Amino acid sequence: MLIPRSLASSLFARKSVELLHAELAAHDRLHRVLGPVALTALGVGAIIGAGIFVLTGLAAHDYAGPSLMLSFVLSGIGCALAGLCYAEFAAMIPVAGSAYTYAYATLGELFAWIIGWDLILEYAVASCAVAHGWSHYFQSFLALFDIHVPGPLAIDPFSASPQVLAAAWHIGGIPIVFDLPAAAIVVVLTLVLVRGIRESSGLNVAIVALKLGVVLFVIFAGIPHVNPANWHPFFPQGMSGTLRGAGYVFFAYIGFDSISTHAEEARNPERDVPLALLGSLGICTILYIAVAAVLTGMVPTPEINVDAPLAEAFAHYGLGTATLIISLGAVAGITSVLLVMMLSQARVLLAMARDGLLPTKVFAAIHPRFRTPHLSTMLTGACVATVAALFPLRVLSELVNIGTLFAFVIVCGAIMIMRRTRPDVRRPFRTPLVPLVPLLGIGANLLLMFSLGWANWLRLIVWMAIGLAIYFTYGVHHSRLRNGTPRTAAPDSN
Ligand code: ALA
Repeated sequence: MLIPRSLASSLFARKSVELLHAELAAHDRLHRVLGPVALTALGVGAIIGAGIFVLTGLAAHDYAGPSLMLSFVLSGIGCALAGLCYAEFAAMIPVAGSAYTYAYATLGELFAWIIGWDLILEYAVASCAVAHGWSHYFQSFLALFDIHVPGPLAIDPFSASPQVLAAAWHIGGIPIVFDLPAAAIVVVLTLVLVRGIRESSGLNVAIVALKLGVVLFVIFAGIPHVNPANWHPFFPQGMSGTLRGAGYVFFAYIGFDSISTHAEEARNPERDVPLALLGSLGICTILYIAVAAVLTGMVPTPEINVDAPLAEAFAHYGLGTATLIISLGAVAGITSVLLVMMLSQARVLLAMARDGLLPTKVFAAIHPRFRTPHLSTMLTGACVATVAALFPLRVLSELVNIGTLFAFVIVCGAIMIMRRTRPDVRRPFRTPLVPLVPLLGIGANLLLMFSLGWANWLRLIVWMAIGLAIYFTYGVHHSRLRNGTPRTAAPDSN
């Protein structure tokens, strides 16, 4: 197929940093209310969740064993390298949109769309996976009080046993089975988010404090029960198991980059966004390594539980109260992840719509009183609730990992391009040792991508093909940059 020359060149049209800053000054901007503590809390809120509470067990049991500690180090290194690149962009271009906006400024519109579409995997699909994990811990918490959700309303249809399917109501011969708690938590958080960032961020700080306490509790209450003999063999499946484990637990780190999507709402983005990015990543890496050491030291690898590994490790020693505290912490922790993920998704969609790549009336609408992108938040909530209720955790989390790693690779590449094309732009934070750090970031994240199976690559390719089809049928015709009509201020109803 021949692409006209003008179209080909405009596909790579870039948004200048000056234009991004001018847009920032427009009237329809979000409130600047977030300080460094709130931003770091948003980061930690996005990071510690289903990954550490749920997927750790599977990665240790199936792949890495005690070398899970090393898996966390490897994954953490990949994230830190990408994080250093995110931080330079976030400080230089403090507008909503994260990697999407960075790609628009460096690689052009087509790549920006690809990244934006990819970020839906990172945020919306991750929200589905996380809501699923939330449901399982919530149900195990209820079970401590002998309360049980009816079988057909407690699980997705793909994971349901034949007995559950048979027991379900049937409509036209189809069993009605879905994960009601997963859908319900998404609906509740959607309402919180529509109400506004200040309330959401305050709620998040409280939940983050609680879950940090619980993670520290796991570490310190677990240490006396560690038996160093359980750390042998350290590499039950050799380095390949450790690497596969790293590709898996990468999920536990996802979310730190979402801080950059809040740059537009930060009071002092140039200083606080890089600080919060690297700070929250550092805090979580140390905690994860400690949790992995305690978990694999408490329980022999073959006996590690894959559904609720941390709670079960304590149940293994008959520590009922500890199990209760951990279940409660997991529910709170996973809730805050979900909150930040859904918040970030709406912000990325907002940025894409402001550029005309998505329908503006829906995705760029700002609520006149709450000043939040309410329609896009509600649409995101409806999709996340539906998918979370109907699809299994494992498939969703694998898809999220490969999509996010892909975004990291592009951000690392973009930092090198930007240093060449726009050396003049002020950079309040500079990624150290360019090009070494971005190159290592690309290498580390590609390595993790390759450690995931081919089925994941296939899913990523299908997802991207759908995204490109949408771009070439809608975005190409409505892009403001290509049409020469950069965003103007929407009427401010304040
Ligand atoms: N890092 C997030 C979690 O572990 C996605 O739940």
